[in-house]
Formats: sequence, structure tokens, C-alpha cells
Amino acid sequence: MVPSKDADWRLPYPKLIGRGHRLKRLLTRQAHPPEVERTQEMTDTPKTDKPDIFDTRESEVRGYSRSWPATFAKAYGAKQWGEDGKEFIDFFSGAGALNYGHNNPVVMNPLVEYLQSGAVLHSLDMKTPAKREFLETFQDLILKPRGLDYTVMFPGPTGTNTVEAALKLARKVTGRQHMLSFTNAFHGMTLGSLSVTGNSMKREGAGIPLTNSSKIPYDDYFDGETQDFLWLEKVLEDSGSGVDKPAAVIVETVQGEGGLRAARAEWLRELSKLTKKHDILLIVDDVQAGCGRTGSFFSFEDAGIEPDIVCLSKSISGSGLPMALTLFRPELDVWEAGEHNGTFRGNNPAFVTATAAIKNFWADNTFQNELADTIAALHQRLDSIVEKAEGASIRGRGLLAGLHFEDDEVAGKVAAEAFDNGLLLETSGPKDEVTKIMPPLTISSHDLEQGLDIIEAAVLKFAPAAEPAAV
Ligand SMILES: Cc1ncc(COP(=O)(O)O)c(C=O)c1O
Repeated sequence: MVPSKDADWRLPYPKLIGRGHRLKRLLTRQAHPPEVERTQEMTDTPKTDKPDIFDTRESEVRGYSRSWPATFAKAYGAKQWGEDGKEFIDFFSGAGALNYGHNNPVVMNPLVEYLQSGAVLHSLDMKTPAKREFLETFQDLILKPRGLDYTVMFPGPTGTNTVEAALKLARKVTGRQHMLSFTNAFHGMTLGSLSVTGNSMKREGAGIPLTNSSKIPYDDYFDGETQDFLWLEKVLEDSGSGVDKPAAVIVETVQGEGGLRAARAEWLRELSKLTKKHDILLIVDDVQAGCGRTGSFFSFEDAGIEPDIVCLSKSISGSGLPMALTLFRPELDVWEAGEHNGTFRGNNPAFVTATAAIKNFWADNTFQNELADTIAALHQRLDSIVEKAEGASIRGRGLLAGLHFEDDEVAGKVAAEAFDNGLLLETSGPKDEVTKIMPPLTISSHDLEQGLDIIEAAVLKFAPAAEPAAV
């Protein structure tokens, strides 16, 4: 349903949710952000000589607060506001954790109601009504319509938790230790996840050897010159190759952190065929590309493959609350009770918002069809920007897109200029050579175009196409 131009979004949390969270469908796009109340602090932040606590007390490890030196006070839909009242369009979406925008009433209403109800907030893996409703909703609206029969595991609240669980399970099921992952992959910051990650700076942070894994070339690594999987097929069939048979291959369908490379559907199908043939498990890490980012709920739907294990996190809660799932074929469920656990697996407020998001956005095709329009609009505009720019090309898929520049410096300059002009835009890739464009899936066409205007102006400033020489 497309929101009417007159939709009144001034009420931040209109009371639309009945008891038991039976949702009436809400407008999917947060087209008209509410008037953001300019609090005293926002309008006249007093200038003081007090040292900045973020500089004096917080670890040097902080990153985003350096690229975006604002103090964000309020957020709604595709926008955030700094303490000083400066408005930003958000093409970052909490690194993919805010696919439905900030403070979407669809998830905020049931959350507020739940928090005030006296219901259980924390429950490890105990049974709660909120968890039951989530599992039923996920089964009925996500798995069944897609013909998927996955067992659901709650591995701990973050992306790296689901990856660790997937790797551990694959090793336990197969009795093999070795893992294969791809060049420029990113799977998280704990040791197992780092061992299958490509980025050398992040890997060095481990401080110990990262073993039991090998990297293989991602789609188009050799610019189409070498036949895909030639090496892999050969070594798997050659008992003298010295390459241990892996427990699993872990892959991202789009490399969100590694430079927005997107695997082709046929490449994914080939990978799936090869892993099946050699009895190797296929893990799709859908932490960033899943939950609608590429246009369908799971990013592998277009390719028509069915991974053995799927990792989900980031936007599964629909609200930015921490939550993760590891999904696997029921035959792979060889865990002993309590063999893999963790204190924060039962985040009930996240179950509530996840349920609300799925019921509102994924109960039928309406949202997915709107999303297809947003994706088409974004890519049309990126085509036109690239035509006017020097050495630029489009990367990614869906709303997980990027602009790659031959000059490695350009993406960072574009992102910095965008920030100055009120747009949050990240860079991606081993040399930060790609501008990453990841607006909320619910962004209005107005906000999308406004953000893209800012990108276009910055690209034309730092990488304008050369004028054709006069004849
Ligand atoms: C594909 C992928 N896997 C895993 C992770 C790790 O998630 P988290 O930062 O929540 O641990 C990320 C984070 O960006 C990711 O993009």
C-alpha cells in the first residue's frame, strides 16, 4: 500500500495494535516523518570547554563516531537528527539492522505495549508467549510460503554469534574441521568468524593464527577470465591435492563489507551443485543481505538454491534490537541439549518486534512489490550518476548497492562530503574504495531522491567525467 500524501505521521506511535499483537497493516513507507520536537538541548546545545567524554573516556576502537562526528539525538524513518538539530538522511540503516527505518510505529507500538505489560524481558531459551508467537509467525509467513523446512536455533544476539554456531554445527555434523570461505568475505569479529573473513586488518586483530580455513575466489575475482570453481572442483576430486575436504563453504550472496560484490544467480547455483556433489554443507551468511535487503526475504531466493544452513541477524528483529537466528535442515540438528548456549538468546522485546515486522511486511507480496519499485528507482538513478562520472561503476544488488571508483580515494571523499551535506553514507571494501548505499527499505521516494541528489553532487565534484575533447 502506498501512503497517501496526506497521511498524518505526526503521531509518532499511533495506537493501531490490539491485544495479542494482532496487527492491522500499517503503511509500509514512513513517508512523512513526524515533526521532531526540537528539545532545548537540540536547538541550543551550549558550547562548553568541557572535554568531550567520547574522546577522553571511550576506547580508540570507536569508528563510526569519527567518520560522522555528530551526536545523534532523534531518529524516525530514514532520518536522524543531531543534538544541534542538524538533519541527516540515513543511507546506512544501522549497517543493515534498520531495514524498516528508525522507530517505525509498526514495531514500536507493540514494543511499548509489551514493555509496559509486565511480560518477561529476558528468558535465555525458556518458553515465553512472545517466543512462541515469533516462531509461529516465522514458520507460517517466512518458511512455509517459500517451501523451506528449517529448524530454528537462537544462537546469541549478534551476527557473529550465528556464524559461530553455523561453523560449529557444520564441524559437528561432518566430523571435518576445514572451512572454505571467499575472498573479501566478512562474517564477524569473533575468532571463528574472523577465520573465514578476508580483510587482513580485521584478521590481524585476532592476535593468534586463524586456522582451519582456506579462501577461494568469489564470483568475478579474476574478472571473468578464469572458469568459476575450476580450482575447487579439481582439488576436491584429486586425493593428492593436499586440500582437506571442508565441512562447509560459507558465502555471502552480496559482500556488504567486502566491497559490495554481488554473486550472480548462476554462480550461486553452481556453488550449490558442487557442494551437494561433494557432500559439503553450504552456509549462506544472510546477516546483512537477508530480511529483504536484496528484494526478497532471503537473498538466495532468486538463485533458487536451498542452503543447508542460513545465518540471519541485523534486521530480523525489525527494530534494531539485537537478535539472531541460525536455520538448518532438520537432519542437521545434532546438538546435545545445552551444548551451545548463551545468556542473551531470549530477547523477548526483539521477538515482539520481529513478529510485528514479519506480520506487517511479509504476510503478502505488497511490501515486496513496493520494494521492487524502490530498487528500480535507486538503480535507475545510479545508472545516470555513473554515466556522468569518471571511472565509476555500480556494485551490489537491491538496496545493498555501491558505487565503485577506479580512484580509491573518491569513495571516502564522497562519503565525507555527503555527511557535510546531511547524508549518512558509508564506504566498503578493503581500501574503502566503494561508496555503500543502503537506505531503509521503507524509504519514501522523496527522501531517496534527496539522498541521491547529495550523492550525485559529491560524485560530480570528485569524479566528474572528462569533457569530450573539442574537434
Ligand atoms: C555478512 C555478515 N556476517 C556477519 C556479520 C557480523 O555481525 P555482527 O556485527 O552483528 O556480529 C556482519 C556484520 O556486518 C555481516 O555483514
